[in-house]
Amino acid sequence: MADLLKLGVLISGNGSNLQSIIDNIEKGSLKASIKIVISNNPDAFGLTRAKKHGIPFIVLKHTNFKNKEDFDSELVRILKSNNVDLVILAGFMRILTPVLLKAFPRRIMNIHPALLPSFPGLHSQKQAVDYGVKISGCTVHFVDEGVDTGPIIIQSAVPVLDDDTEETLAARILKEEHRIYPQAIQLFADGSLETDGRKVKIKNNK
Ligand code: GAR
Repeated sequence: MADLLKLGVLISGNGSNLQSIIDNIEKGSLKASIKIVISNNPDAFGLTRAKKHGIPFIVLKHTNFKNKEDFDSELVRILKSNNVDLVILAGFMRILTPVLLKAFPRRIMNIHPALLPSFPGLHSQKQAVDYGVKISGCTVHFVDEGVDTGPIIIQSAVPVLDDDTEETLAARILKEEHRIYPQAIQLFADGSLETDGRKVKIKNNK
């Protein structure tokens, strides 16, 4: 147990990606342990999920902090005090400052509901529907100082149908998110991710 990858999961809302990580850990397909769940939103349903599975959680309201750097310093303190190896952004709707990025270099992952570099930022599924693309999907990437610009680890594509709404497309993409996020974390746990500039190569893929 001692050598399991230790995760800190940051959420802001429903936490269905958190749930898929929990489920994969519980069924043994993801060899990691969640040390702490942190939400900036006290009403996030993800907190209920953490509680149900006996995972420690903390609410850290960003509005209680003078600025983004002070908020991130407290995040770093909590993550470090829980010996977190890898920080997982799972629907965490805050932009990170260098304070957090420097504390966990190449050790912060995010999932984004579009095929980056298309449709970064907010409401990606609506952006995809409005643009009229035929294919969208999701991307797991390392986080850098930009918005959804970091090195790409895995992507999965889904069709965009003529009668899709933001909601129906989001649901189709979310299913893929739940599949590929645990996979990306397991690749990290296996030491299979090799970064070369902004390219991430997958070595010894099991
Ligand atoms: C997911 O679709 C995730 O990709 C997206 O928020 C949703 C969170 O759902 N993240 C972003 O848009 C980040 N820019 P969840 O709380 O059910 O995991």
